[in-house]
Amino acid sequence: MRSWLFIPGDSERKLAKLDTLEADAVILDLEDAVLPASKTVARQRVRDTLDARPGPRGRPLWVRINPLEGPLALEDLAAVVGGRPDGVMLPKFSTVAELQRLDAALAALEVRENLAPGSVPLVAVATETARSLFELGALGRVGPRLQGITWGAEDLAVDLGAAANRDEEGRWLPTYQLARSLVLAGAAAAGVQAIDTVYTNFRDPAGLRESCRHARRDGFTGKLAIHPDQVAIINEAFTPDEDDCRWAREVLAAFEAGGGEGALSLDGKLLDAPHLRQAERILAQARQSAR
Ligand code: COA
Ligand code: MG
Repeated sequence: MRSWLFIPGDSERKLAKLDTLEADAVILDLEDAVLPASKTVARQRVRDTLDARPGPRGRPLWVRINPLEGPLALEDLAAVVGGRPDGVMLPKFSTVAELQRLDAALAALEVRENLAPGSVPLVAVATETARSLFELGALGRVGPRLQGITWGAEDLAVDLGAAANRDEEGRWLPTYQLARSLVLAGAAAAGVQAIDTVYTNFRDPAGLRESCRHARRDGFTGKLAIHPDQVAIINEAFTPDEDDCRWAREVLAAFEAGGGEGALSLDGKLLDAPHLRQAERILAQARQSAR
């Protein structure tokens, strides 16, 4: 899924927009977009929103719960899993053990709700705690429920006691570039999707487009969104364009014509196994986007 759009779980006005949105997935938020005084109301609204749209849903509805280390997460889970969310997002995790505990809690709730084991997938927001950076090489231990990871720079800055996370020109400072790179490597090592963080200036389409271009170049296959206007830009940016597809078809054709040779040339450049894999990946992404 390319675009993941947050909707604050307590906002009737924004939830009313749900069925008009073009996002590949919607994330009903119970965490940072909801004030403490509204947590209970938000939980009920999110459950009602899920119940009003029993599956299979055209557009997946995910729920971001509160951090597992706090007092709200288990109640969030107990309230929403019966609504058969298409997935759960966990913010601010610190350790793989924590993700394993969430996996077990979800497994128990799946039994209670007569859902197939493992039917509620998980995406974790990595890098919001300093500790999590040291766990990103071990995400494969969470098991098949973990479907993707994304990252957050705001909370990491708070955890580090940093005054800023970008330089004067708006580029990520080295610590946040490192976090972003660890997310890419951790996701690839675990075989899960890498989803880029939010672009918070939602009135800057050119900046968003640039941010998506860099994200896709570096290996992310989707991006979080906070505003409906960001969705089309993200979807387009993460869909292989005609040039990408033409190149990929040419690569496949070259290998077919190559009669079993592992190293070939195309337009004066070397083609070998990684290019073949990349070409196959591009065509798979194009097929998925077209669905
Ligand atoms: N989901 C659904 N609808 C949204 C939306 C969202 N994330 N963001 C905006 N809209 C709606 C607005 O309600 C408005 O519709 P209306 O005028 O009919 O009520 C329309 O889209 C245009 O919105 P706009 O006026 O441009 O923005 P805003 O000032 O109302 O809202 C934000 C700006 C940032 C507060 C809002 O986009 C938002 O709440 N985003 C999600 C924040 C979030 O969940 N953060 C947590 C993860 S970081
Ligand atoms: Mg946050």
